[in-house]
Amino acid sequence: MADGDLRLDFANLLRPHVSTGVDPERLSGDLARRFRAAHDAVEERRAAGDMGFFDLPHDAETAARVKELAEGFGQWFSDVVVLGIGGSGLGAVSLRDALLGPFWNERSDEERDHFPRLHVADNPDPVTFGALLGRLDPAKTLVNVVSKSGSTAETMAQYLVARRWVEDAVGSDHTPGHFLFTTDPAKGALRKIADAEGIPAAPVPGNVGGRFSVLSPVGLLPAAMCGVDVDALLAGAAAMEARCRTAELAKNPAGILATLLHTADTELARPIHVLMPYADRLRSLALWFQQLWAESLGKADGLDGSRRNTGPTPLASVGATDQHSLLQLFIEGPQDKVILFVAVADAGADVEIPAVHPEVPSLVYLGGKSLGKLLDAERRATAEALRREGRLNATLLFPRVDAATLGQFYMLLEIATVYAGALYGVDPLDQPGVELGKVLTYGLMGREGYEAPSLDAGDPRWVV
Ligand code: PA5
Repeated sequence: MADGDLRLDFANLLRPHVSTGVDPERLSGDLARRFRAAHDAVEERRAAGDMGFFDLPHDAETAARVKELAEGFGQWFSDVVVLGIGGSGLGAVSLRDALLGPFWNERSDEERDHFPRLHVADNPDPVTFGALLGRLDPAKTLVNVVSKSGSTAETMAQYLVARRWVEDAVGSDHTPGHFLFTTDPAKGALRKIADAEGIPAAPVPGNVGGRFSVLSPVGLLPAAMCGVDVDALLAGAAAMEARCRTAELAKNPAGILATLLHTADTELARPIHVLMPYADRLRSLALWFQQLWAESLGKADGLDGSRRNTGPTPLASVGATDQHSLLQLFIEGPQDKVILFVAVADAGADVEIPAVHPEVPSLVYLGGKSLGKLLDAERRATAEALRREGRLNATLLFPRVDAATLGQFYMLLEIATVYAGALYGVDPLDQPGVELGKVLTYGLMGREGYEAPSLDAGDPRWVV
């Protein structure tokens, strides 16, 4: 293992560390065989061209196009607004929060090295979206509309609002120059508009689904426009992809993660999987994971056609904040969770705690230490407390928070997700459950070809 490698400590998922854990002998026995079958199934789909996310780190042509677009556009605008929801928004949010550092959008131009501020608008909440546009100067704003399908109602409605907002300020001739699309290479409304108006449109490969697209132009473009080193991000992802090629369970970090979380759910009754970074700037990574794990694994039907209604429930959390919110439940509530901590070896900055009140004995121990030391002690103490209570947990150790580590993290979790899909016997790439809601919404909003549904299930019954 190299110095910059992201590492996984899974001792607290096993016996004897945790009395209720998985028998470690199984890692070279039935679990190794189970994983090999899952690995083979994934490799088969990958060879059939279904799993394009594996190839993104090696797509030099797209990376070059992203950098060219970012260099061409980023410098002309003070603000970039990404319009995208689900897999089309969470990647950019997590990259921004992790890699641009705290308070990016509040920093001066000099403090941002003249890179633009980055806003990601996912929810079509009129209060938030109206307020965002109200604060920005349309003449200095670039809107990156991200929708693989080009038909998502939330994103397309925001696009129409933003389009009029820009047009009113700069006139229709200059309007296309304020837009950049990220969408399907061949089809959909955005591709059509792009072709008609000459708006640059970066491609999301057809075989890369939304929640697996952070390393495509979906995440790369906004990140590159703000100065993120996309080559390092992709190199990190490529290194993790190489580490995860082996079918040997003990050597494959994504395999270990997927196999032990699946076993914890299906055999040890631990269906709730918490990702808990101990770093504020990684909070959005937990939200990214939450969508990836939930939308990929929560499925009604198995690959064999049987009804399953299966899938673990992911939960985003952050330490040490949630030690004062969720931890009581994690430690004493039902034995139904696995906590996956994220620790950072070198946080890059620290704040010394001064010995200000020598006359107050209960504060003396803090003086001369640092906030980083405290945060790390809290994480280690929490893991140990969970362990002693028989609560399963593991730790992902980031050497530091940089583009290369983030690339490793995204690839690790994406590969773990498709392995988990194979272990659960479901298709991790589709999301049929969200389609009905979409169709009903189209009907309610009067879209041509969609019938207005009746939503009356009887008289409402209000508490009076
Ligand atoms: O992961 C997914 O596939 C979804 O969350 C999509 O990203 C989300 O529904 C947005 O879809 P689109 O990019 O087509 O607008």
